[in-house]
Amino acid sequence: MLISFEGIDGCGKSTQIKLLKAYFRDKGVKFSVFREPGGTEISEKIRNLLLHETDDMDPTTELLLFSAARSQLVAEEIIPRLKKGEIVILDRFYDSTTAYQGYGRKSAKLSHIETLNKLATHNTEPEITFYLRIDPKEAAKRTQRGIKDRMEKAGEDFFREVYSGYDMLSRLERFEVIDATKSPEEIHQKIIQRLNKVLN
Ligand code: TYD
Repeated sequence: MLISFEGIDGCGKSTQIKLLKAYFRDKGVKFSVFREPGGTEISEKIRNLLLHETDDMDPTTELLLFSAARSQLVAEEIIPRLKKGEIVILDRFYDSTTAYQGYGRKSAKLSHIETLNKLATHNTEPEITFYLRIDPKEAAKRTQRGIKDRMEKAGEDFFREVYSGYDMLSRLERFEVIDATKSPEEIHQKIIQRLNKVLN
């Protein structure tokens, strides 16, 4: 089963993934976690290009690099694990491309991005997508500290667009929208309630 986590920077995804890992570990459930972009040697190299190398990347190049990193991860790690019936947790998946490159950067027409996503994922779809929804202003307060990567430097207007993109995607049946302003424990409980329904 494939489970993805989505949300704008500062939504608390990492905390929730950490809590879920601990929960599965306690229950003795076999699972793997991958972050996007990344998760394979090639994809981590592409991640470095995307997040740390240069400030003036062409938006189409950016779109294709996120997709290239994804294709490698899906082919090398995700598909083989799903075939074995394992649980795979993803810290971002192609919905991030729709929201960030499609709505945020407007790098390409949404229909083109949809086609590209199908190609890059080898037609692999998550069963559940937990979307941690938080207003960009609130999220920005959480990310003020620390060094910002290339994407995080994009500014509030950009994140407003990304946020509206996620709201469009939330209409999809596989989306479970979670109020990310709630406490980490409350959010965790919501997530495991939903997962238990599917796993039992
Ligand atoms: P990361 O440090 O992993 O951030 P986070 O903890 O918020 O997931 O950096 C990933 C960044 O790349 C994040 O700003 C979102 C962005 N991104 C895209 O723009 N498009 C994509 O397809 C993906 C997977 C990520």
